[in-house]
Amino acid sequence: MSPLPPLLLLLLSLEPLGAALIRIPLRRAQGAPNPLREWGQPGEPPRMGAPSPGDKLISVPLSNYINIGGISGASVMFGEALWEPSLVFTFAKFDGILGLGFPILAVGGVRPPLDALVDQGLLDKPVFSFYLNRDPEAASGGELVLGGVDPAHYVPPLTFLPVTLPAYWQISMERVTAGPGLTFCPHGCAAILDTGTSLITGPSEDIRALNRALGGIPLLAGEYLIECSSVPKLPTVSFLLGGTWFNLTAQDYVIQIVRGGVRLCVSGFLALDVPPPAGPLWILGDVFLGAYVAVFDRGDPRGGARVGLARARARGAGGGSAQAQFPGGRPG
Ligand SMILES: *[C@@H]1O[C@H](CO)[C@@H](O)[C@H](O)[C@H]1NC(C)=O
Repeated sequence: MSPLPPLLLLLLSLEPLGAALIRIPLRRAQGAPNPLREWGQPGEPPRMGAPSPGDKLISVPLSNYINIGGISGASVMFGEALWEPSLVFTFAKFDGILGLGFPILAVGGVRPPLDALVDQGLLDKPVFSFYLNRDPEAASGGELVLGGVDPAHYVPPLTFLPVTLPAYWQISMERVTAGPGLTFCPHGCAAILDTGTSLITGPSEDIRALNRALGGIPLLAGEYLIECSSVPKLPTVSFLLGGTWFNLTAQDYVIQIVRGGVRLCVSGFLALDVPPPAGPLWILGDVFLGAYVAVFDRGDPRGGARVGLARARARGAGGGSAQAQFPGGRPG
């Protein structure tokens, strides 16, 4: 057997204390794409294979590929984009999309990165968590933690919800309310947790009524503008998940953008109708996941996948010195 690389030795020596965590700092990028927005139109499935004879070939050197939190020696298959459908890919500065959904979504049956890391013994558990920093002025965009969650990132307890459809991270939502008077999804509905979606989306009829209650002015493509001066008076919007309320204040759900000295306030609620069979559903994107840390646990053969949610700890408070570990045992 070849000698173990130092990192792997470190992981093994931490084993009795709990899961080894791999931390991946997140940087802020403007105008990231939203793959789920394409759900509206039945798109062509991504094509894998060689470019057509007429295509001009350009070689792009890849450096530091599978810049996964310092793990080395991982072998992960990736798909190369030969054709990009929108301008966001031109303007946004990023190298690719790290798919963290379930294997059923993988194009061509490719083993997703999380599975590959577990298969190769580089990660103990198929678990990851996101701690997103929503402050546009902050240098750090937060952290993706592979292998568990950092207790310094959230205020306990974590509320665990079973994944109802293991493709995207889908859960069932019991209710959504806005202030004392408005209720949506009164008999329950499907929701997915998705860091690749910037806002919170829902069926257009519900989002229209919700934004009307917030005084929102329809903008483009399902987005709404909000009068900035009204933010302190806006109601709390609450999501009932697993019997626990997850509340967002207007500070959480209104996105304030300053452009050329002008302050614009955009509603965090976007109308997006996801057609059946996947939809209708709500997408709890970064507006939700900035306020609440989410632990995505693929589970093991004994137990199904689950998602844990807890209020994100305010930045600057606490500090990051706590012993990192995976919370509690699996239920059942
Ligand atoms: C969260 O929202 C629910 C439903 O509106 C409400 O009953 C509860 O008091 C709120 N909790 C907090 C801490 O604001």
